[in-house]
Amino acid sequence: MSRLVYVLNGPNLNLLGKRQPHIYGHETLADVERDCRALAAELKLDLRFHQSNREYELIDWIHEARDTAGGLVINPAAFTHTSVAILDALNTFDAPVIEVHISNVHKREEFRHRSFVSLRADGVIAGCGTLGYQLALRRVASLLDSQAA
Ligand code: DQA
Repeated sequence: MSRLVYVLNGPNLNLLGKRQPHIYGHETLADVERDCRALAAELKLDLRFHQSNREYELIDWIHEARDTAGGLVINPAAFTHTSVAILDALNTFDAPVIEVHISNVHKREEFRHRSFVSLRADGVIAGCGTLGYQLALRRVASLLDSQAA
């Protein structure tokens, strides 16, 4: 199985660090990418790290991942709660999918409690801050390791 992992980020996450820091913290998405790359090197994963404010771009990256990736980590941001199209795309992807939310969506407004993406995700991490991305990468690596063993 490929050790390439896609890390996909949805709308407004480009503003991480500036956007509602009391909810999402002070780290920027560049910080998150840097930490993911350092951990990926340790775990012997190859990484593609992307962010978009456009639903179709996230869908195109999921389609691209179908042919190449052994795992996918996604923080779909607000699309979590609205996008059947992202769920449908993820349903075409056969390898592990881990859904990440920086904040604990279950402690927030009711509309954030429903996730279309969770209907496909193999694991969900919420409320662990940006550390959630690292936890997700570790989970993907351990699943890939156990498949290889
Ligand atoms: C988020 C939670 C979503 O409800 C919100 O729309 C986001 C970020 C999180 O990481 O906590 O944009 O996915």
